[in-house]
Amino acid sequence: MQNDDTATSGAALPDAGPKKVFVKSYGCQMNVYDAQRMADVLAPEGYVETATMEDADLVVLNTCHIREKAAEKVYSELGRVRTLKRERKGRGEEMQVVVAGCVAQAEGAEILRRAPAVDLVVGPQSYHRLPDLVRAARDARVVDTEFPVEDKFSVLPQPAREKVRSRGVTAFVTVQEGCDKFCTFCVVPYTRGAEVSRPVGAIVTDIAKLADAGVREVSLLGQNVNAFHGVDEKGRAVTFGGLLQRVAAVPGIARIRYTTSHPRDMDEELIAAHRDLPQLMPYLHLPVQSGSDRILDAMNRRHTADDYLRIIERVRAARPDIALSSDFIVGFPGETDADFADTMRLVETVGYAAAFSFKYSTRPGTPAAELGDQVPEEVKTERIHVLQDLIMRQQRAFNAATVGRRVEVLIEKPGRHPGQLGGKSPYLQAVHIEDRDARIGDIVMVEITAPGTNSLYGSRVPGMETAIA
Ligand code: SAH
Ligand code: SF4
Ligand code: F3S
Repeated sequence: MQNDDTATSGAALPDAGPKKVFVKSYGCQMNVYDAQRMADVLAPEGYVETATMEDADLVVLNTCHIREKAAEKVYSELGRVRTLKRERKGRGEEMQVVVAGCVAQAEGAEILRRAPAVDLVVGPQSYHRLPDLVRAARDARVVDTEFPVEDKFSVLPQPAREKVRSRGVTAFVTVQEGCDKFCTFCVVPYTRGAEVSRPVGAIVTDIAKLADAGVREVSLLGQNVNAFHGVDEKGRAVTFGGLLQRVAAVPGIARIRYTTSHPRDMDEELIAAHRDLPQLMPYLHLPVQSGSDRILDAMNRRHTADDYLRIIERVRAARPDIALSSDFIVGFPGETDADFADTMRLVETVGYAAAFSFKYSTRPGTPAAELGDQVPEEVKTERIHVLQDLIMRQQRAFNAATVGRRVEVLIEKPGRHPGQLGGKSPYLQAVHIEDRDARIGDIVMVEITAPGTNSLYGSRVPGMETAIA
């Protein structure tokens, strides 16, 4: 999953009502999805989205707690919010401030103490109650970090068709939440709670509605999405591979992606789906974190480096062109030069199309925070440079290998110049093409002509039919 990125959700609507909400998301894609759903739950209350914090009546910061830096970002942003709130008050206008997401869950009332501008703190499991909570927070500051019994997804309103379309032809859909894996470095099991899979029928209905509004690609989200174990309309158990088959059968959905997976849950059915489902894109984000068995054990990953390599072999046998990506942590407590060399060796062996790497960050309340033998910051910095250099070389090599090949591109947005369009290859590479005929949402055949810094250039191959209409 992508982290430390920030994303703002929505743009000002032309028919702006009296109340405006600004939602800013930090952290993973699940937060991006939640941000949209928060906007959806506030829409019937008369709130329209705005892209600027300055003119917002309601500011929602949807936060991430995964690393110290991510969590601290919120407090610096809240400093800025406080100034804006004061300025608005000077003009006789109100601004309500909400902290949502994983920092809200982890720190609760502590946020009210540290940040006087905050009116409401709401955890990731309670945001379906936002309208009531926002109302209550007008009278007194509120904290809601309960894990309620009701399923928030079943009570959240569906966005209007035009709203879905305005968000683009690709969409995120959370299918599973929480995590039971308890890796010793990670806050997610505490901030998102136990692993819960949504019912298959509800997921398929949501995706059919998205497709009806023009969405062509869905990314199924979960912290541990391949551990999905839902039930279908008849109460039968459905694994993640089974869910992929159901989603592939939804008319209009041409592409399916999913993230994030755990190596322990890469079962035969899921690997077979990569062979059998043309809608399932040949891209797998499978975090390994480290190439050292000693460190993997201390992280409680419950697999070895060799187990991981064998899974990669099986996936590649099923889908030889699959692009692989991963997450790595350097400087986990006790990591030696030899452990780090094992990580470098694993990266060399796999050959990634992309990967994220992070310096270990001590998180309060996690088992690893109690370990001695913390790795000095300079050592972490040096290791991450070495690792990122290798990953960058692999990414460039992967992109260079696409030059001269024909790939299907889903057109997602206009390009930077008139006549230019931007889309994605099956391997999640950004591709720019010059074309005046293709429309957003089309899947066109493109010959890749040149690699750019972070993207590829290509030209459309006329007359080529796409595999999936
Ligand atoms: N559920 C996903 C991970 C979500 S967090 C999975 O299991 O793959 C995304 C990434 O952040 C993790 O894969 C890990 O590489 C990184 N991360 C998590 N906790 C961290 C910490 N304490 N310090 C540094 N990186 C961390
Ligand atoms: Fe965190 Fe591990 Fe769960 Fe991923 S699998 S969310 S790293 S505890
Ligand atoms: Fe961050 Fe919470 Fe996602 S801690 S990575 S926003 S699940």
